[in-house]
Amino acid sequence: MYLLDIKDITYRVKEKEIFSGLSLAIEPEEVHAILGKNGTGKSTLAYLVMGCESYIPTSGVILFEGKIINDLKIHERAQLGITLAWQEPVRLEGISVRDYLTLKKKERNPSIYLEMVGLSPELYLNRIMDKSLSGGERKRIELASIVALEPKLAVLDEPDSGIDMLSIQDIINVINVLKKNGAAVLLITHREEIAKIADRASQICNGKIICSGDPQMVAQYYKSRKCEVCIAGVCAYV
Ligand SMILES: Nc1ncnc2c1ncn2[C@@H]1O[C@H](COP(=O)(O)OP(=O)(O)OP(=O)(O)O)[C@@H](O)[C@H]1O
Ligand SMILES: [Mg+2]
Repeated sequence: MYLLDIKDITYRVKEKEIFSGLSLAIEPEEVHAILGKNGTGKSTLAYLVMGCESYIPTSGVILFEGKIINDLKIHERAQLGITLAWQEPVRLEGISVRDYLTLKKKERNPSIYLEMVGLSPELYLNRIMDKSLSGGERKRIELASIVALEPKLAVLDEPDSGIDMLSIQDIINVINVLKKNGAAVLLITHREEIAKIADRASQICNGKIICSGDPQMVAQYYKSRKCEVCIAGVCAYV
């Protein structure tokens, strides 16, 4: 049985059809990279899987461990083991980094999670989650918190955005730790060096998955297509 099975969903917002028959299935413990140009709907897909407010498919179903979750609220999906690291981290302003990393298991030592993302526990555990943290620091702490939540499915929306080039390895480490802990990862990224650590990859274009398979093959296909030729929503390369 698939862990996540998205079947033929359409999603329309204000007359704009973002998805028109998108299907995607993910096995337990699979790292699956999602590639696609800006505005193709990658973050929208993440919100639909997480069940964010008002993100309900117009048609089609989303199954998690074989059960339809279309009508489940975000906290109910979190209880099932789905979690999302936002493209722009926003959650839980004002609590300490220590509390943020021990939300699920109070007895756990949060230092290991910070070390995993290359931040010193001495310097960061007592900081407050607010604007005094830099964008990259917030992003790293958000990723550390995802590991601490021990999800079955982690949706990572551009975990590499705002992270300097030298620290890409930290992100790759986090994905590997999630996998080792038994999580599947839906990995939205623009970076080929991150996509290629996935087990499989899919490219979104014109509201559908247009190519799926080996990450290097999909990345190559993505780079080689000339999207300017898409006219009136019809992709000349499909
Ligand atoms: N509430 C809304 N009203 C109108 N259009 C919307 C709304 N939400 C999303 N869109 C549009 O849907 C499309 C998909 O947006 P989305 O944020 O999912 O793209 P993305 O693939 O994540 O892009 P990026 O690579 O820039 O992060 C965009 O064209 C966006 O403008
Ligand atoms: Mg996005």
